[in-house]
Amino acid sequence: MKKTNLLGLFSALALAPTLGNAADPAAEHPTYAKEVSRIIQDNCQICHQPGQIGPMSFTSYEEVRPWAPLIRMKVADGEMPPYQYDSDVGVQELKGDWRMSQEDIDTIVAWVDAGSPLGNPEELPAQKEFPAIGQWRLAGDLGQPDHIIQSAKWDVPANGQDLWWEPEVDSGIDESRCIKAVETLPSKAAHGSTHHANSHFIVQNEEGEWVNGSRLSEYAYGKLGEMVPEGACRTVPANSKVGWSIHYYPDGKAVEDDQVSVGIWYYDEEDEFDEESAYPQDLRSYFLSSGGDYLIPPHGKLMTQGMHSFDHPVRLDSWQPHLHLRGVAMSMEVFDPKTGRRETLSQASNWNAGWNHSHTYEDGHQPLIPAGATIILTAWYDNTADNPRNPDPDQWVGAGQRTTDEMSHAWIAVTHLDDEGYEQMLAEREAREQRTVATAGDSHD
Ligand code: HEC
Repeated sequence: MKKTNLLGLFSALALAPTLGNAADPAAEHPTYAKEVSRIIQDNCQICHQPGQIGPMSFTSYEEVRPWAPLIRMKVADGEMPPYQYDSDVGVQELKGDWRMSQEDIDTIVAWVDAGSPLGNPEELPAQKEFPAIGQWRLAGDLGQPDHIIQSAKWDVPANGQDLWWEPEVDSGIDESRCIKAVETLPSKAAHGSTHHANSHFIVQNEEGEWVNGSRLSEYAYGKLGEMVPEGACRTVPANSKVGWSIHYYPDGKAVEDDQVSVGIWYYDEEDEFDEESAYPQDLRSYFLSSGGDYLIPPHGKLMTQGMHSFDHPVRLDSWQPHLHLRGVAMSMEVFDPKTGRRETLSQASNWNAGWNHSHTYEDGHQPLIPAGATIILTAWYDNTADNPRNPDPDQWVGAGQRTTDEMSHAWIAVTHLDDEGYEQMLAEREAREQRTVATAGDSHD
């Protein structure tokens, strides 16, 4: 009952100063029933409920209250909800953004400081419904997928080292089409041990040889599905195969005959999608060093950098940094040699390898990159004992597949434009007085 005493003390401390200051707005503190329950429902319960990945359930006052001091800390530090994307630099308009508003953070802090009171139980909202584990997240908006591709079966052991399973399967696609959305879904049983699951097309070239084609989908723990933005065509090729690269990290539970699935949603007639005028989009990984050519010394730090440019204008639709345990931050900038401008597009300076999000820019806010401009990706590593996630600062760390090795790349969905499309998009944004890379520089905010 130590926690109850602690909370009692918090409430006494919080009330005391208000006696001498009648105008203090904290005197009217938020309650669980009125404000906090709704914030927890909207921001936390998707993971913090029975059977989900959060280690504790937050579906009632009784469940939430013992954790109040830790909730205050995690929320105030921006560690929960887990979404590592800087709020003070770069494009802030993101789809599926899990970051909480400052107002909601302040409400939680004020509630905990006031002793985390329940308030009037009649003000409690109805319980919220959530999609079950093992079900398509996008189904809520799009219905069941039009086409499903499954990996070949594989037995996941209960314990052991990292494992890779790289089967090839038939795609079952008999017509090349643009897709509306794609989602990778680990099985319900192996949900906790499927660390990454990437899939790509394998297509036949003119000589009839099978060669690697474009990326189909990319999944890392915590990732939801992906919608292809308006006006872009991401193609699934007919008569193709799909190559899988699945990374399991055993979590104590053996799963027989496991299969990971990819669901594909196509445009239907109601979507009014014009395939002819759509620009091709692809999702690829962009490296920050040539061929993984880096070594982080024991108790040392390192920075890696990669430059990429295109001979045609492009639109960047999403950005997903990928680093492991020594990685602490990544940024994406653009340098335009014609104007001399260099600008940060996105930055994650509190990297946490437990969470991988594809930061998808809102329509109309995707960075537009002129032909010849350079995209600069920078990653920082900390192999000292100061990095709380570092498993062993005495090790030399190089590039590799294991979680204890490092990685240095970013997944970027790129729509390949022509001059006409680029100018048109720029003009649309200027008309809406929105910020763009090529013209507005750092004028936002
Ligand atoms: C996407 C899933 C997800 C969401 C959303 C989420 N959490 Fe978590 N939370 C987790 C997982 C997984 C852990 C355990 C691993 C970790 O700490 O990263 C965790 C851990 C925690 C912990 C314990 C940390 C510790 O050190 O023991 C607290 C407290 C917490 N979350 C609070 C919250 C609150 C409050 C919210 C909403 C404002 C929230 N979480 C939203 C998944 C989530």
